Amino acid sequence: MIKISPSILSADLFEIESKVRALDKAGAEYIHIDVMDGHFVKNLTFGSNMVKSLRKITSKVLDVHLMIKPVKLYIQEFVDAGSDIITFHPEADKESYEIIQMINKSNIKAGIAIHPNTKISQVLNFLPKVQQVIVMTVVPGFGGQKFMENQVYKIKELYDLRNKNNFKYKISVDGGINNLTAPKCIENGVDILAVGSYLLNKEKKLYPELIKNLR
Ligand code: DX5
Ligand code: ZN
Repeated sequence: MIKISPSILSADLFEIESKVRALDKAGAEYIHIDVMDGHFVKNLTFGSNMVKSLRKITSKVLDVHLMIKPVKLYIQEFVDAGSDIITFHPEADKESYEIIQMINKSNIKAGIAIHPNTKISQVLNFLPKVQQVIVMTVVPGFGGQKFMENQVYKIKELYDLRNKNNFKYKISVDGGINNLTAPKCIENGVDILAVGSYLLNKEKKLYPELIKNLR
């Protein structure tokens, strides 16, 4: 079954606790936490303190998406805060291999995110080593942007590469996911949908129905 990773990016900070509790109850398997530094992307969000706080209120998979540069310097604090998966953009740090190793040595999952300007051929070397690959279908930085349909082929490419090489990563898609765009990703072999505004901008009582529709 397709897994749902709601992104708290578009939630009012004061409502994050109640929304995460509602998403947890509504059956979302993951909680997607977008960490932005105003440097790698043009927006600022939160740091490992958010992971630490969410860890206290949910046992769902904390799916941390780092949009920061550099990366390695911050890995340990995100591990200590209780992340289950740490995904980063390999462009943001020369020490990407060490970062993946460091995350895996901490017994949690490592992922890479593919920026719309990055081709799969540029990240081939990481694919045997990671447990998650996030295909970005918006330019990272903001919620509520339009889905970039011209990125969907990367989902299929990753799906075929996994079959061919027996790689183990799960394929996630992030950006502009809603009831109309999700089917295109599912048809191409996605495993996880990271969903921001489509869920978080709606009333909590609608979450179970919206999640059901997305799947
Ligand atoms: C964008 C973030 C996304 C964002 C998705 O840089 O990585 O996770 O929250 O939000 P929507 O679903 O609104 O595009
Ligand atoms: Zn994200």
